[in-house]
Amino acid sequence: MVNYKDLGLVNTREMFKKAIAGGYAIPAFNFNTMEQMQAIVQAAVETKSPVIMQVSKGARNYANATILRYMAEGAVAYAKELGCEKPEIVLHLDHGDSFELCKDCIDMGFSSVMYDGSSLPYEENIKISRQVVEYAHKYDVTVECELGVLAGVEDEVASEVSHYTKPEEVIDFATRTGCDSLAISIGTSHGAYKFKPEQCTRDPKTGKLVPPPLAFDVLAEIEKKLPGFPIVLHGSSSVPQEEVDTINQYGGKLPDAVGIPEEQLRKAAKSAVCKINIDSDSRLAMTAAIRKYLAEHPDHFDPRQYLKPARENMKKMYIHKIVDVLGSDNKLG
Ligand code: G3H
Ligand code: 13P
Ligand code: ZN
Repeated sequence: MVNYKDLGLVNTREMFKKAIAGGYAIPAFNFNTMEQMQAIVQAAVETKSPVIMQVSKGARNYANATILRYMAEGAVAYAKELGCEKPEIVLHLDHGDSFELCKDCIDMGFSSVMYDGSSLPYEENIKISRQVVEYAHKYDVTVECELGVLAGVEDEVASEVSHYTKPEEVIDFATRTGCDSLAISIGTSHGAYKFKPEQCTRDPKTGKLVPPPLAFDVLAEIEKKLPGFPIVLHGSSSVPQEEVDTINQYGGKLPDAVGIPEEQLRKAAKSAVCKINIDSDSRLAMTAAIRKYLAEHPDHFDPRQYLKPARENMKKMYIHKIVDVLGSDNKLG
């Protein structure tokens, strides 16, 4: 059993309290590789932002769970080395799909876990969520649960359509599970294809898809039922069109990729939404930089040559999200 506090990590409790009071959101960036971890830490240190580094089941399968855990421990040391005396870094399990997986992460030093029972019947979701909360709270680990279904594809969860969170269920769910934060469905979706073209309109000038707005009325109703309770938005990449264009220009094929407009995320961050999940934008930033670099340097084959601009491009994106979208800069301490 490793306690996250011994690794210099923190849970989400204080962080979320301050974020709600201050009208900003904490960035939750997924990581699978060393370059992503380095870019996240550099961005958080330079902007003096708290940060959630999250690991999915797919990331554990790709990189190995133990390695990711040590990378998070390394992230704390790296942040200090970069000049941040007291980094606020959360190591979070993203979309845990069983009690056993959540327990395994808690036992190996995670400071926060998500149990995602959103695809289960309501009572079953409550039962397992409650079990995870009871175990996690023994070790002061915070727990995110989910109610409502996002459209899109996750590693283990796939749904064609979204089902908005029902505001009339949130009090019962939060009370009976004892969860520390609640992920809701108000129209965001996972991946780089968040909406089908027929769900969007087209900007006549650029020909680009304009997605339907998020259901801010549902969010407002949820906030009314659970005042001051931490709300989480998954599927919140904005799918920057310049990255999509670069990928397509250098041999990629991502037609009609579309995300959540950043103004809407900015608006959400000012509410009780205090954690915003971003993964796809990092994948796009990395892929765009690598494709461009390799096309321009066909004779290069040292991975450090093309991973360096990829890391720089991800860092630029993370800083932009922190400063211009979520507003979590200068919030340490
Ligand atoms: O919500 C899903 C995250 O983007 C993680 O994706 O399961 O492919 O690692 P993944
Ligand atoms: P995106 O696919 O929009 O980046 O969402 C990531 C996410 O929700 C991770 O849990
Ligand atoms: Zn998610």
